[in-house]
Amino acid sequence: MTYNEVTPIELPKIKDLRGNLSFLEEHNHVPFKINRTYWIYDVPGGEERGGHAFKNTTEFIVPLSGGFSVEVINGEEKQTFELNKTNCGILIPKLTWRKITNFLSNSVCLIVADTKFEDCQYIRDYNDYIKTYNELK
Ligand code: TYD
Repeated sequence: MTYNEVTPIELPKIKDLRGNLSFLEEHNHVPFKINRTYWIYDVPGGEERGGHAFKNTTEFIVPLSGGFSVEVINGEEKQTFELNKTNCGILIPKLTWRKITNFLSNSVCLIVADTKFEDCQYIRDYNDYIKTYNELK
């Protein structure tokens, strides 16, 4: 299955007086096999992460705590998602330009990806991104 659009995904939330619990399963809550999980944290106020696209990686981004904005460009169209619920994330298909901004203090940004890390997957220049997007889409 291919996903072309940035898609919000709500994860299960098991409410309990002892505290809430959420989870995600591959090929279920995220529509891919999970090959990598990483997280971004201790982001100083005003800093931004990302500012690139991946040639062949689909990701799911969710705030484990705190909140942040995710600016995405899918070809020409720009959207901004405000993520601040620990069970609500977004699926970002390959060839999407994305930047993560406006981190609240103590935020933890969890990213689940369908590929292992490969530097050659990155498109870090926006003009290259538009060129590659038009070639590959
Ligand atoms: P990068 O993806 O550029 O950070 P961000 O997009 O959040 O600003 O990654 C920063 C550094 O970490 C870069 O040198 C590559 C390295 N890195 C890994 O070694 N493995 C990984 O899975 C990721 C995501 C990054």
